[in-house]
Amino acid sequence: MTWYKVLKDDVLKDGDLYKANIEGKEILIIKDGGSYYATSLYCTHEEYDLSEGFVDDHQLICPNHFATFNPGDGSVISPPESAGDIDPLSSYSVKVEKGEVLVEV
Ligand code: FES
Repeated sequence: MTWYKVLKDDVLKDGDLYKANIEGKEILIIKDGGSYYATSLYCTHEEYDLSEGFVDDHQLICPNHFATFNPGDGSVISPPESAGDIDPLSSYSVKVEKGEVLVEV
């Protein structure tokens, strides 16, 4: 596992989502409540690009069928209605150092 610089700390506002490509891996950076989180980019329901989603009440929401995920660990809060269980997102460690946001991949 290696830490990669992804963006400057002052780029994102609270609630913003950012699509990053780290060593060929597509990652979603989430800023919420002043903290950063990182998950896999695609919804585990039908692979929708979650950078087009949104954050509400500390939940990451897929705009396609409204699956909700916990940004902190990628776990499923609620699957789309009548979809049954869906897999959690992958989750990555994030830290801020010297004004840069770094993700461990
Ligand atoms: S693709 Fe995300 S909820 Fe269906």
